[in-house]
Amino acid sequence: MLEAVLAAECQATGDYARRTQEAEEFGDKGLSVQLEDMVRDETGHAEETERILRDWPM
Ligand SMILES: [Fe+2]
Repeated sequence: MLEAVLAAECQATGDYARRTQEAEEFGDKGLSVQLEDMVRDETGHAEETERILRDWPM
């Protein structure tokens, strides 16, 4: 279950990073910054999920 969550968080991070690049290429700085914030959020979710998988007794 948590492995699937981690995979989804990593997928979202990559998808938003690609959209960030597209927004920059399009010249929409505001959208680019919003998407960068989403990359940061999803990266944090992935890191937290990795910590749970590593540290919690199962
Ligand atoms: Fe997330």
